[in-house]
Amino acid sequence: MTTHPAGSPTPLTPADAVAAARPGRVRPRRLRGTAALRRSATEVRLHPADLILPLFVKEGLTEPQPIASMPGVVQHTRDSLRRAVVEAAAAGISGVNLFGVPLVRDATGSGATDPDGVLNAALADVRAEVGDALVIQADLCLDEFTDHGHCGVLTADGSVDNDATLVRYAEMALAQAEAGAHMVAPSGMMDGQVGVIRDVLDGAGRDDVAVLAYAAKFASVLYGPFRDAVESTLEGDRRTYQMDPANRREALREVALDIAEGADLVMVKPAGAFLDVLADVAAASTVPVAAYQVSGEYAMVEAAAAQGWLDRRRAITESVLGIRRAGADQVLTYWAVELAHWLREEWR
Ligand code: PBG
Repeated sequence: MTTHPAGSPTPLTPADAVAAARPGRVRPRRLRGTAALRRSATEVRLHPADLILPLFVKEGLTEPQPIASMPGVVQHTRDSLRRAVVEAAAAGISGVNLFGVPLVRDATGSGATDPDGVLNAALADVRAEVGDALVIQADLCLDEFTDHGHCGVLTADGSVDNDATLVRYAEMALAQAEAGAHMVAPSGMMDGQVGVIRDVLDGAGRDDVAVLAYAAKFASVLYGPFRDAVESTLEGDRRTYQMDPANRREALREVALDIAEGADLVMVKPAGAFLDVLADVAAASTVPVAAYQVSGEYAMVEAAAAQGWLDRRRAITESVLGIRRAGADQVLTYWAVELAHWLREEWR
C-alpha cells in the first residue's frame, strides 16, 4: 500500500510513490514472463477427453443439411453420422450425444420408442460403427418426437403431465439401451425421471447403462438455435419444468435429488451464463459433473467471429476453458472435434 507519509507537507511524486511501495518483492508477473513459465503455472488444461460432441440426425435425409443459426453444424444423414462418429473417435474426444429429428410427430412421441425410429436406428448405427471407442450418449426426451413440441405428454388441459411422461421416459430408456446407448441422458426436467429410468433399466438387466442426468437445466433463451436444429414445433416455453435462470440454490436441490435417484453424472445447462451454478455443483457433487455449452453460446461466438469482432479460435478455447475452470469434468460442445484437433496441435 502506498501511503502518504504522515505529516508530510508535500504530496508524493509518482516516482516516490513507486519507491515507497517497494513492488519488487512480490511480483505475480514473474510467472508470466515466458511461454514455458506460463505453461508450468497453468491451473487447468484442456484435453480432448474432456469433450463430448452433440450430433443431430434427421430421418429421410439424403444429404447433410446445414443449420442456419448454427454455422458449421449440420443435421446428419444416417451415413454422414457414421462418418462423423469415426472422425470424433479419431480426434480423441470422449463421446457423442445424439439427437434425432423424425419426419412424423404425434401427441405421445411414438417415434421415440420405435426401435426403427430415427434416434434408435442411429444409435444402433453408431454402436456398430465405433463400438466402445466412444461413450454413446442418447438424448432421452420427447420434445423432438411430440407434435406439440413439449418434453412430455400433455393432460387434457394442455399442461405437461409429469408422471405420465415418466412412463414414456422409462420406455424410451429401454429402447435406447436396446439400440446400443452406453448412457441415457434425460433432459426433460420431469420430477423423478432419474429414479424411474434407473429402476426400469435395472429391472431389465441393464444395470450397465449409465444415466447422465440433466440435473440443473434452466429455461434459457440460449436454446434458440437448437430448436432450429431439431425443427421444434414448440409454442410457448418450458418454464413449468425447466429451472428459473434466477435460481442458484435450487440447482443444488435438483442435483441432490438426482444423485439420490442414482444419477451417474449430473449436468448443468447452459454452461457459460451459469458458471456460478456450475462451481456450486462441482463443489457439492459426489459424481462427475458435465456442462453443456449450448447452441446459443455457439451461435454468439460464431456470429461475432464471422463479423471479425472476435478471434474465433481464442474465443472458443477461452469459453471452454472457463467451463472447465468452473468445475466441469466433461463439456458438451459443438466445437468438440475442432477443439480437440487444436489441442493436439498445441502439444506438438
Ligand atoms: C431438449 C433439449 C434442448 C437442448 C438439449 N436438449 C432444448 C430445450 O430444452 O428446449 C438444447 C441444446 C442446445 O441448445 O444446444 N431435449
